[in-house]
This record gives sequence, C-alpha cells and structure tokens, in this order.
Amino acid sequence: MKRPIATLLAGAALLAANLCAAEELSSLRGHAVTDDSDAVINRPTLAVPGGFDVAWEEQPPMIPHPIDKYSIDLRQNGCLKCHSPATYEANRAPVVAESHFFDRDGQRTESVAPRRYFCTQCHAAQAGAMPLVENIFPGR
Ligand code: HEC
Ligand code: HEC
Repeated sequence: MKRPIATLLAGAALLAANLCAAEELSSLRGHAVTDDSDAVINRPTLAVPGGFDVAWEEQPPMIPHPIDKYSIDLRQNGCLKCHSPATYEANRAPVVAESHFFDRDGQRTESVAPRRYFCTQCHAAQAGAMPLVENIFPGR
C-alpha cells in the first residue's frame, strides 16, 4: 500500500513542476506560447529586392516576394501570370527555367510540364526577417 502512495506523490510533484515550467515558456520572438498569432503580417519584411542567393546547386530559388494573393489550381496558375514566357517581360519577372518544359521522358512540352505546374511544391516563399537562431550552414 505504501508504494502506490509514494508514486502518486512523486507524480503530483512532477505535475506541479511541469505546470510551473509551462508558465515560463515563451516563443523565440518573446511571446507567451498562449498568445494568439500575430493577425497582421509585417508586409515590408516580406519583399527581398534582388532575391536570395541559392545555397546549393540545383536548389529551386526561394521566392523573394509575398505570394498570399496568388493561387494555383487546375484552371489557373497565379504564378504564370508573371513568370510564363508570354508574360514575364511585361512584368519584369524572371521567366520559368527551361527545365520546366520537359516531361519525365525528356520530351519538350508546349507549356509548363505538369510536374512543374505546382510551383510552391519546390519554390518556397521567404521573408527578409532577422533569423531567430544563428545559422552556420555555409552554403556553396
Ligand atoms: C505580379 C507578378 C508576379 C507574380 C504573380 C509572381 N511573381 Fe515571382 N517574381 C516576380 C518578380 C518581379 C521577381 C523578381 C524579383 C523581385 O523583384 O521580387 C520574382 C521572382 C521570383 C523568384 C526568384 C527567381 C530567381 O531566379 O531568384 C521565384 C522563384 C518566384 N518569383 C516564384 C514565384 C511563384 C512560385 C509565384 C506564385 C506563387 C510567383 N513567383 C508569382 C513577379 C511575380
Ligand atoms: C519540381 C520542382 C519545381 C517546380 C514544381 C517548379 N520549379 Fe521552378 N525551379 C526549380 C529548380 C530546381 C530551379 C533551378 C534549376 C533550374 O534552372 O532548373 C528552378 C528555377 C526557377 C526559376 C529561375 C529561372 C532562372 O533562370 O533563374 C523561376 C523563375 C522558376 N523556377 C519559377 C517557377 C514557377 C513559376 C513554377 C510553377 C509554374 C515553378 N518554377 C515550378 C524547381 C521547380
């Protein structure tokens, strides 16, 4: 009978310790973990003029601008409104790479190959925000 009570007490002490620790937790930006997420994103930090360097060869370049207004679905692709061969010049955007016009058998496709259609599958949007933790990855 003694043992279960001791275990119970130890358990209760551990629980109390955990509860105290939970109160002190905060995010890397200094918010309490119970705070709501920031409702308004800080737009100016989202654009990175000139873009990011790629860190390794054949890395899909990071997207240096906000993309929350562009959607990609079966009927339309918001990215191609600026990045397709027909539209890039008018929008002063880089055109999709030549590699995006080949299917898996190496056949050239007329428009962007289906396997390259969902741009954000490979290209990730990045913001010009200060890193929250030091990154020592040297890149290429
Ligand atoms: C309104 C026009 C516009 C739309 C829509 C747009 N982009 Fe861009 N994009 C640009 C411009 C202009 C640049 C050149 C860099 C800059 O000034 O931001 C760029 C740069 C990029 C780059 C960097 C290329 C490099 O070589 O570094 C990538 C990747 C990219 N966009 C991907 C996307 C994806 C994915 C979408 C859709 C989710 C998208 N873009 C929608 C205009 C656009
Ligand atoms: C399967 C992964 C993948 C998908 C999907 C993809 N890309 Fe890329 N993209 C890459 C890689 C890898 C590179 C860099 C190497 C290269 O040139 O192929 C690149 C390069 C680019 C570049 C830079 C071209 C240059 O000359 O610097 C642009 C712009 C771009 N992609 C736009 C897009 C857009 C817009 C879409 C959607 C229609 C898209 N990509 C879909 C992987 C992808």
